[in-house]
Amino acid sequence: MNYQDFFQSALDQLRDAGNYREFAELERHRGAFPTALCHNGPNDTPGDVTIWCSNDYLGMGQHPKVLAAMHNALDRTGAGAGGTRNISGTTHDHVLLEAELANLHGKEAALLFTSGYVSNLATLGTLGARIPGLTILSDALNHASMIEGIRQSRAARQIWKHNDLVDLEAKLAALPLNAPKLIAFESVYSMDGDIAPIAEICDLADRYNAMTYLDEVHAVGLYGPRGGGIAERERLMDRLTVIEGTLGKAFGVMGGYIAASAELCDFVRSFASGFIFTTAIPPAVAAGAAAAVRHLKTSIAERAEHKARVADVRAQLDAIGLPHIDNPSHIIPVMVGDPVKCKFISDTLLRDHGIYIQPINYPTVPAGTERLRITPSPVHSAADVDHLVAALESLWTQCQLARRSIAAQ
Ligand SMILES: Cc1ncc(COP(=O)(O)O)c(C=O)c1O
Repeated sequence: MNYQDFFQSALDQLRDAGNYREFAELERHRGAFPTALCHNGPNDTPGDVTIWCSNDYLGMGQHPKVLAAMHNALDRTGAGAGGTRNISGTTHDHVLLEAELANLHGKEAALLFTSGYVSNLATLGTLGARIPGLTILSDALNHASMIEGIRQSRAARQIWKHNDLVDLEAKLAALPLNAPKLIAFESVYSMDGDIAPIAEICDLADRYNAMTYLDEVHAVGLYGPRGGGIAERERLMDRLTVIEGTLGKAFGVMGGYIAASAELCDFVRSFASGFIFTTAIPPAVAAGAAAAVRHLKTSIAERAEHKARVADVRAQLDAIGLPHIDNPSHIIPVMVGDPVKCKFISDTLLRDHGIYIQPINYPTVPAGTERLRITPSPVHSAADVDHLVAALESLWTQCQLARRSIAAQ
């Protein structure tokens, strides 16, 4: 086999389908988010852009308390953790962060991982592989990291229709009442921005003797009186067996975690390969994340401003009839429905308007539902919003795209 030819032809196929991904090479300016220098901007000339697709939803990656905590930890402890959590990598900053996270979710314990992806992979992988006879019931639109964890566990799995309680109940009822079961789902689904019926899923879990695993990656920091997520907002945290989250989105840093009972966390700590055999996150990262979590437990200003900005963008899109999914979350998917036009709009926004929104094409979303996923933040100004909407309006006309409103699914 000619290996290089093989790689090239696979990439050519992606390009032909309009699905080849290119990176924008950004350099964020400290304290000036959402502005960043794009090093490979139009015609490869570097220039400033306004980021409208970041998952640093609240701008906490630039928050003075987070930066101060990271500087302090770096000066206090140095750069890296120095090992896996078992072999010299458990630092005081890791332990403090785990306590902060357990408290955030009202659980006995929390366990850190190197990312949200790894927390899902390792936890679902370990529970599925180690609990004899476990069936994992997984929502059809669960994130790749959950799917991969379930797949690697080799546990029996049942995929239930997205957010469909009737289908979930039918699948639960078909299993013996005493057989171990785990329902795995997300709160805010990041591509459509819809929200799971958590209370009703917990009711089914109680009725059919199942554990629950909730991914709150797109909700932690953003919802609930202390930023504990949708389950906190709906006073459901105590009904969930495992709450999983990330430190890389609304908390602005990086890393992932689960919060659960002391026994479950200790079980995953003791058996999960993805926890045991990898270097712990740097203490400065843990300290920065802890500062973000701590700040958002008491400050509601960021959440209130975030909500207001999301409402501004939606109202202005509605005023000009640009189709977006009318969901109950902070994610605004503006629907283009064509991979080539989606990429063209994204490229033109960057080149002619200094606006960066990555196109979301297949396989991240189903073909025909290509979109621009807009994530307003408290640090976008009213002028940023006006500029965005005016640019989208002119491109909608240029691309002859339909104008209408799309109901949430
Ligand atoms: C639902 C969901 N879970 C988990 C992850 C992974 O989190 P992280 O980016 O911290 O690896 C993502 C990432 O986008 C996600 O969307």
